[in-house]
Amino acid sequence: MSKAKKVMKWGSLAVLVAVVVGGIASWNSEIAPIEKIDTSTFSPELIAKGEKLASVGDCAVCHTRPGGERMTGGLAMEIPFGTIYSTNITPDRETGIGKWSYDAFERAMRKGVDREGHYLYPAFPYTAFTKTTDEDLKALYAYLMSQPAVKYQPEETSLMFPFNIRQGVVTWNWLFLEQGAMQPDPQQSAQWNRGAYLTEGLGHCSACHSPRNIMYGEKGGADHLAGGEAEGWSAPSLVANGDSPIIWGHKDLVEFMSTGFSANHGVAAGPMAPVIEEGLSQLPPEDIEAIATYLMSFKTNELKAIDTSNTTNLAATMNAMAEAKVEPLSTEGARLFSGACMACHAQEKGAKLYGQRPSLALNTNLHSDSPDNVIRVMLDGIQKPALDSLGYMPAFRHNLSDAQIVSLLAYLRQNYAEKPAWPDLEQRVKALRAETEKQ
Ligand code: HEC
Ligand code: HEC
Ligand code: HEC
Repeated sequence: MSKAKKVMKWGSLAVLVAVVVGGIASWNSEIAPIEKIDTSTFSPELIAKGEKLASVGDCAVCHTRPGGERMTGGLAMEIPFGTIYSTNITPDRETGIGKWSYDAFERAMRKGVDREGHYLYPAFPYTAFTKTTDEDLKALYAYLMSQPAVKYQPEETSLMFPFNIRQGVVTWNWLFLEQGAMQPDPQQSAQWNRGAYLTEGLGHCSACHSPRNIMYGEKGGADHLAGGEAEGWSAPSLVANGDSPIIWGHKDLVEFMSTGFSANHGVAAGPMAPVIEEGLSQLPPEDIEAIATYLMSFKTNELKAIDTSNTTNLAATMNAMAEAKVEPLSTEGARLFSGACMACHAQEKGAKLYGQRPSLALNTNLHSDSPDNVIRVMLDGIQKPALDSLGYMPAFRHNLSDAQIVSLLAYLRQNYAEKPAWPDLEQRVKALRAETEKQ
């Protein structure tokens, strides 16, 4: 046996022992079911506060399946090892959390363990939720328990061996769960601390915006919030300048989080749209300001010094420049653009339709290393805008062939982003078309 193999053999044995010992050492007992809860003891203010917190945490986004009743679960989350279904978190006693005491709820949010003592999978973002204060968890509990109880049993989560053994999550938690409410940093302002609390806690921005390692743990340090992935979309970096051609200023972030649109950057089109619709747009303006302050504090001084307050017309100017640069019918991509897209997307010549016409010249997705977000938008359009006022974009799945989408992408990349061509476009378009067709 080679040395490397021996190390691997003993290594896996060590892991196995760790899982078994860890599993026994961290056995969780069941928390006794409660009698029917008297929700009249919760004040209307407490419930209203809990409702806002549920918005920050996107509880309804994940705990509602398409067409299903709110918070009754059953949303399928596909992972490489199978499918995880979200649970019913209405107070129904049989299928929901009606038998859960506050202690059971707190344990789930802080430790990722359900009332009966089973480990929950980290598709439920408890590594972020654990940072919530007791006071806020109590308000959330009051809100959840005061909703209508709806009987609905979501489909069973089914993962392949060994991931179907929930006890295995113990080891993962050792590595990636840092339990406990977030402590304010006395060196920072109250506004910064509020922003940090919302971003890192209930807002769980890093669940999508941080890259993950091969064990699905979020990478920390300089990688924290530096760009990740969600449901097959790329989630850009929130901390450096990312891929956006001009830097995100405080004002841009506030505008984007409250409306789903920033004139200097673009729209929330994919998984970010519900985060804004159900979550951020429901928050009071001071909370949005706080998150922006926190995110801006990651930028280098050099970036912070760039003044973006005068860039209101930059989007229009850059688009007009891109439009003026080419003879409209010079290439196949240009011809397709003028036929299929220009009516809505040309800033100068385009018809003034309802909704926004995001500047393509400033769109992060066109500047990104991955073409995926743009391909997805072309195939499926934008059917669920973050806010209705942004308008809808039609799907082109049935109007454009793969080859036509490739020509369009090449044209947009060269003309609007002025970046090197994306490689392997044919394959990407084909793969994403097949993937999104199933849905
Ligand atoms: C990113 C998706 C996602 C978000 C956001 C989310 N959850 Fe969940 N949640 C899940 C999934 C998936 C499960 C089931 C995990 C499992 O089966 O191991 C779950 C499980 C739970 C459970 C355990 C319920 C049970 O019956 O075992 C509770 C309680 C819960 N979530 C509460 C919340 C609350 C409160 C919020 C908002 C603050 C929230 N969740 C936001 C995905 C999510
Ligand atoms: C469910 C995953 C998810 C969560 C949670 C999430 N985001 Fe996003 N976010 C995305 C994705 C994906 C994109 C890019 C594509 C799109 O529009 O959906 C994005 C885009 C953005 C952008 C625009 C970036 C650019 O350069 O265009 C900002 C700003 C942003 N998110 C901020 C936040 C903040 C702040 C939070 C936490 C309060 C957050 N996001 C939580 C997935 C997520
Ligand atoms: C009927 C009008 C209309 C047409 C035609 C149209 N779009 Fe759009 N497009 C929109 C609107 C409106 C938005 C923003 C919608 C929102 O955020 O809700 C948008 C957004 C976009 C975005 C930004 C998405 C993001 O994630 O930031 C891209 C890229 C885009 N369109 C490309 C195209 C291309 C390429 C074509 C032609 C194949 C096209 N559009 C045709 C209306 C249109």
